Amino acid sequence: MITTFYMPTRIVSGAGALGTIGHLARELSMSRVLVVSDPVISAQPFHAAALAALAEAGLAISRFDDCGIDARCSHIDQQGARVRHDGIDGVICIGGGSVMCTGKGIAIVATNHKPMAECTGVGRFDRKALPMIMVPTTAGSGSEVSQWTIVKDEERHLKLLGGGPLSFPDAAILDAVTLRSLPMRVAALPAVDALTHGVEAYLSGIASPLTDAVALGAVRLQYGSLRASINSDDERARNNNLVASCMANVACGNARLGHGHALSLPLEGQLDLAHPYGVGVLLPHVVAFNLAVLPDKVGPLAAALEVETAGLGRAATIAACAEAIRSLYADIGFPTHFTPEQLPPGRVREMAERAVPGLYAGIAAKDFDHRTATDHTVIACPSARKMTVRQAQDIFARCLG
Ligand SMILES: [Fe+2]
Repeated sequence: MITTFYMPTRIVSGAGALGTIGHLARELSMSRVLVVSDPVISAQPFHAAALAALAEAGLAISRFDDCGIDARCSHIDQQGARVRHDGIDGVICIGGGSVMCTGKGIAIVATNHKPMAECTGVGRFDRKALPMIMVPTTAGSGSEVSQWTIVKDEERHLKLLGGGPLSFPDAAILDAVTLRSLPMRVAALPAVDALTHGVEAYLSGIASPLTDAVALGAVRLQYGSLRASINSDDERARNNNLVASCMANVACGNARLGHGHALSLPLEGQLDLAHPYGVGVLLPHVVAFNLAVLPDKVGPLAAALEVETAGLGRAATIAACAEAIRSLYADIGFPTHFTPEQLPPGRVREMAERAVPGLYAGIAAKDFDHRTATDHTVIACPSARKMTVRQAQDIFARCLG
């Protein structure tokens, strides 16, 4: 199998890294920037400090502070037109995953002159996005080093993924000062998403030794620091979360994501479930499902999840891996099941059918009629093991307890 490992994004990390943002923008030839954020983050002192550093470097600044829980196609299209009209030559995102996905979408549509919905799917645009600097404020999405953006098409209630090598951010600034504004429970959500990215990259059918090394390192670092960072004010642990999230996305940006993300997609699009809940609750189940066909990966993943394997056979080790994730959830206040409101039992089958096009279908997902799926239809997904609609249905049912 031929594989390619991309990581063109410059990663600047450590205490004080945010102070370099003006210099970095200048190095990337930015002169007039759009700073994308949300109403909570734009009120934080570190946001003001970043704007001051940009102004000091002589950059003209426009702002879009209205990002919400999802990156919306309507916001992206409006701001993309604004960027073109005003001659803005760089996009700087300060926020979590939805902020970075919004900014990445704006950078894509600004140069490609078509609506975001038409840019979804793999490599659906042919011009390089505007230069981007990403400043993540959650240790989670990893969008700061990802070519992908996940956007919500509000009209069709669909979550769509778009991107390609032309939409990698140019630089990412990882500075734990940006995590200080987060309440503990809020911080746990993106961190679980990040853990999912690392694990799913490791369980991918297109994983390589390069992606495996980065993915396992990300899982080990994330798992080993999450309890301390969520339950105490441990600055070193939080910095580890930020770096681990970034590493996880370097891995999944190349090995891609798996069943947790594919199955979560219809829950997010149709039922408005927040992304970390969808992928996080599914994670222990998809770990057990995929490890069953990856005997060589059971031991290394168990070690990364701090599972004591002495005396355990393979099946028991796989079960212990899933249990280690649930145990972490219990300690950081993250759920292990969906509520009937999040996933109505009467819609379980429909959600399994709607998962069939997979995460990477993009615009093609719009034309898929879920009622054509049978028990044996396979969910499109790069994970190592093929999953049918019936198997997805069973996993959803187990997630309801
Ligand atoms: Fe995710």
